Amino acid sequence: MNVLKKEQINRQPFELLLDQKTIAKRIVELGEEITRDYADRAPLLIGVLKGCVVFMSDLMRVINLPLDIDFISAASYRNGTKQDKEIYFDSSINTPIKNRNILIVEGVVDSGRTVASLIEELTKQKPRTVEVATLIDKPASHRWKLDIKYKGFTVGNEFVIGFGLDNAQKYRNLPFIGRVVEK
Ligand code: IMP
Ligand code: MG
Repeated sequence: MNVLKKEQINRQPFELLLDQKTIAKRIVELGEEITRDYADRAPLLIGVLKGCVVFMSDLMRVINLPLDIDFISAASYRNGTKQDKEIYFDSSINTPIKNRNILIVEGVVDSGRTVASLIEELTKQKPRTVEVATLIDKPASHRWKLDIKYKGFTVGNEFVIGFGLDNAQKYRNLPFIGRVVEK
Protein backbone atom coordinates (compact mmCIF):
# COMPACT_ATOMS: atom_id res chain seq x y z
CA MET A 1 0.00 0.00 0.00
CA ASN A 2 1.39 3.41 -0.97
CA VAL A 3 0.98 5.30 2.29
CA LEU A 4 1.63 9.05 2.17
CA LYS A 5 3.88 10.56 4.83
CA LYS A 6 2.38 13.01 7.32
CA GLU A 7 4.64 15.85 6.06
CA GLN A 8 3.34 15.36 2.49
CA ILE A 9 -0.25 15.52 3.68
CA ASN A 10 0.37 18.61 5.85
CA ARG A 11 1.33 20.74 2.83
CA GLN A 12 -2.20 20.46 1.43
CA PRO A 13 -5.24 22.67 2.26
CA PHE A 14 -6.73 19.81 4.23
CA GLU A 15 -5.82 17.68 7.19
CA LEU A 16 -5.88 13.95 7.61
CA LEU A 17 -9.11 12.59 9.04
CA LEU A 18 -9.07 8.85 8.24
CA ASP A 19 -5.93 7.07 7.10
CA GLN A 20 -5.71 4.29 4.54
CA LYS A 21 -5.36 1.43 7.01
CA THR A 22 -8.33 2.58 9.09
CA ILE A 23 -10.50 2.83 5.98
CA ALA A 24 -9.37 -0.54 4.59
CA LYS A 25 -10.12 -2.29 7.90
CA ARG A 26 -13.58 -0.77 8.14
CA ILE A 27 -14.46 -1.72 4.54
CA VAL A 28 -13.51 -5.34 5.28
CA GLU A 29 -15.89 -5.27 8.28
CA LEU A 30 -18.70 -3.88 6.11
CA GLY A 31 -18.01 -6.56 3.50
CA GLU A 32 -18.30 -9.29 6.11
CA GLU A 33 -21.57 -7.85 7.40
CA ILE A 34 -23.02 -7.59 3.88
CA THR A 35 -21.81 -11.10 3.04
CA ARG A 36 -23.71 -12.45 6.06
CA ASP A 37 -26.85 -10.38 5.40
CA TYR A 38 -27.12 -11.32 1.70
CA ALA A 39 -26.01 -14.96 1.97
CA ASP A 40 -29.25 -16.23 0.42
CA ARG A 41 -30.00 -13.40 -2.06
CA ALA A 42 -27.54 -11.99 -4.58
CA PRO A 43 -27.34 -8.20 -4.15
CA LEU A 44 -27.34 -5.66 -6.96
CA LEU A 45 -24.89 -2.93 -6.00
CA ILE A 46 -25.82 0.45 -7.50
CA GLY A 47 -22.98 2.93 -7.15
CA VAL A 48 -23.74 6.64 -7.10
CA LEU A 49 -21.11 8.26 -9.33
CA LYS A 50 -18.67 9.75 -8.99
CA GLY A 51 -18.11 9.67 -5.26
CA CYS A 52 -18.70 5.92 -4.95
CA VAL A 53 -15.88 4.74 -7.21
CA VAL A 54 -13.08 4.03 -4.75
CA PHE A 55 -15.33 2.77 -1.96
CA MET A 56 -17.35 0.58 -4.33
CA SER A 57 -14.29 -1.04 -5.91
CA ASP A 58 -12.92 -1.92 -2.47
CA LEU A 59 -16.27 -2.96 -1.02
CA MET A 60 -17.32 -5.27 -3.87
CA ARG A 61 -14.05 -7.18 -3.55
CA VAL A 62 -14.69 -8.01 0.10
CA ILE A 63 -18.26 -9.20 -0.43
CA ASN A 64 -17.86 -12.92 -0.77
CA LEU A 65 -21.03 -13.60 -2.78
CA PRO A 66 -22.20 -13.59 -6.40
CA LEU A 67 -23.38 -10.04 -7.10
CA ASP A 68 -24.21 -7.60 -9.89
CA ILE A 69 -23.13 -4.01 -10.17
CA ASP A 70 -24.45 -0.95 -11.93
CA PHE A 71 -23.98 2.80 -11.61
CA ILE A 72 -26.04 5.96 -11.69
CA SER A 73 -24.74 9.50 -11.96
CA ALA A 74 -26.01 12.05 -9.49
CA ALA A 75 -24.89 15.58 -8.86
CA SER A 76 -26.17 18.02 -6.30
CA TYR A 77 -22.96 19.87 -5.53
CA ARG A 78 -22.02 20.46 -9.14
CA ASN A 79 -19.29 22.93 -8.50
CA GLY A 80 -17.55 23.19 -5.19
CA THR A 81 -19.16 23.02 -1.80
CA LYS A 82 -22.32 25.02 -2.60
CA GLN A 83 -25.51 23.05 -2.92
CA ASP A 84 -27.52 23.35 -6.12
CA LYS A 85 -31.30 23.39 -6.09
CA GLU A 86 -31.79 20.31 -8.28
CA ILE A 87 -30.48 16.78 -8.20
CA TYR A 88 -29.39 15.49 -11.57
CA PHE A 89 -29.73 11.76 -12.19
CA ASP A 90 -28.43 10.18 -15.30
CA SER A 91 -30.67 7.12 -15.25
CA SER A 92 -28.55 4.76 -17.25
CA ILE A 93 -29.12 1.62 -15.19
CA ASN A 94 -29.45 -1.25 -17.65
CA THR A 95 -29.84 -4.00 -15.09
CA PRO A 96 -33.48 -5.03 -14.42
CA ILE A 97 -34.37 -3.96 -10.88
CA LYS A 98 -37.71 -5.69 -10.32
CA ASN A 99 -37.48 -8.12 -7.39
CA ARG A 100 -33.77 -7.45 -6.90
CA ASN A 101 -32.10 -6.79 -3.55
CA ILE A 102 -30.53 -3.43 -4.17
CA LEU A 103 -27.64 -2.00 -2.21
CA ILE A 104 -27.04 1.66 -3.03
CA VAL A 105 -23.36 2.49 -2.61
CA GLU A 106 -22.50 6.14 -1.84
CA GLY A 107 -19.31 7.98 -0.93
CA VAL A 108 -20.96 10.44 1.44
CA VAL A 109 -24.47 11.16 2.68
CA ASP A 110 -24.90 14.79 3.68
CA SER A 111 -28.46 16.19 3.63
CA GLY A 112 -29.67 12.76 2.50
CA ARG A 113 -31.42 14.25 -0.52
CA THR A 114 -29.47 12.37 -3.21
CA VAL A 115 -30.02 8.97 -1.64
CA ALA A 116 -33.64 9.70 -0.69
CA SER A 117 -34.44 10.74 -4.30
CA LEU A 118 -32.67 7.69 -5.66
CA ILE A 119 -34.58 5.35 -3.36
CA GLU A 120 -37.81 6.99 -4.54
CA GLU A 121 -36.84 6.51 -8.21
CA LEU A 122 -35.75 2.90 -7.76
CA THR A 123 -38.78 1.96 -5.68
CA LYS A 124 -41.01 2.73 -8.69
CA GLN A 125 -39.42 -0.26 -10.40
CA LYS A 126 -40.44 -2.62 -7.59
CA PRO A 127 -37.19 -3.98 -6.18
CA ARG A 128 -37.58 -6.56 -3.39
CA THR A 129 -35.37 -4.62 -0.95
CA VAL A 130 -33.36 -1.39 -1.01
CA GLU A 131 -30.58 -0.68 1.48
CA VAL A 132 -27.83 1.92 1.60
CA ALA A 133 -24.09 1.62 2.18
CA THR A 134 -22.09 4.83 2.54
CA LEU A 135 -18.44 5.29 3.34
CA ILE A 136 -19.10 8.56 5.17
CA ASP A 137 -22.27 9.65 6.92
CA LYS A 138 -22.93 13.16 8.23
CA PRO A 139 -25.96 12.55 10.48
CA ALA A 140 -25.99 16.13 11.83
CA SER A 141 -26.63 17.40 8.27
CA HIS A 142 -29.52 15.07 7.40
CA ARG A 143 -32.63 16.89 6.25
CA TRP A 144 -34.24 13.91 4.52
CA LYS A 145 -35.34 10.97 6.64
CA LEU A 146 -33.14 8.01 5.82
CA ASP A 147 -32.33 4.59 7.18
CA ILE A 148 -28.69 3.88 6.33
CA LYS A 149 -27.89 0.28 7.14
CA TYR A 150 -24.15 0.21 6.38
CA LYS A 151 -22.01 3.16 7.42
CA GLY A 152 -18.24 3.28 7.19
CA PHE A 153 -17.66 6.33 9.35
CA THR A 154 -19.70 9.09 10.90
CA VAL A 155 -18.26 12.61 10.71
CA GLY A 156 -19.46 16.01 11.90
CA ASN A 157 -20.52 18.99 9.86
CA GLU A 158 -17.28 19.28 7.89
CA PHE A 159 -16.31 18.95 4.24
CA VAL A 160 -14.31 15.82 3.51
CA ILE A 161 -12.29 14.89 0.45
CA GLY A 162 -10.35 11.95 -0.94
CA PHE A 163 -11.12 8.27 -1.46
CA GLY A 164 -13.45 9.26 -4.31
CA LEU A 165 -14.82 12.43 -2.71
CA ASP A 166 -14.10 15.78 -4.32
CA ASN A 167 -13.98 19.46 -3.68
CA ALA A 168 -14.79 21.09 -7.07
CA GLN A 169 -13.79 17.80 -8.78
CA LYS A 170 -10.35 17.72 -7.16
CA TYR A 171 -8.80 15.31 -4.65
CA ARG A 172 -10.83 12.23 -5.63
CA ASN A 173 -7.61 10.25 -6.05
CA LEU A 174 -6.28 10.81 -2.53
CA PRO A 175 -5.96 7.37 -0.91
CA PHE A 176 -7.20 8.66 2.49
CA ILE A 177 -9.99 10.92 3.77
CA GLY A 178 -9.07 14.50 4.57
CA ARG A 179 -10.96 17.38 6.10
CA VAL A 180 -10.89 20.69 4.19
CA VAL A 181 -9.33 23.45 6.30
CA GLU A 182 -8.67 27.13 5.66
CA LYS A 183 -4.91 27.69 5.70
P1 IMP B 1 -26.78 15.02 -0.15
O1 IMP B 1 -27.71 14.86 -1.30
O2 IMP B 1 -26.94 16.37 0.53
O3 IMP B 1 -26.79 13.88 0.83
O4 IMP B 1 -25.33 15.14 -0.74
C1 IMP B 1 -24.68 14.09 -1.19
C2 IMP B 1 -23.70 14.54 -2.23
O5 IMP B 1 -23.11 15.82 -1.90
C3 IMP B 1 -22.57 13.58 -2.29
O6 IMP B 1 -22.81 12.58 -3.25
C4 IMP B 1 -21.39 14.47 -2.64
O7 IMP B 1 -21.29 14.62 -4.03
C5 IMP B 1 -21.72 15.82 -2.04
N1 IMP B 1 -21.10 16.05 -0.72
C6 IMP B 1 -21.73 16.28 0.44
N2 IMP B 1 -20.87 16.43 1.45
C7 IMP B 1 -19.65 16.27 0.92
C8 IMP B 1 -18.32 16.27 1.48
O8 IMP B 1 -18.08 16.47 2.68
N3 IMP B 1 -17.32 16.05 0.60
C9 IMP B 1 -17.51 15.83 -0.72
N4 IMP B 1 -18.72 15.80 -1.28
C10 IMP B 1 -19.79 16.02 -0.47
MG1 MG C 1 -19.01 16.28 -5.38
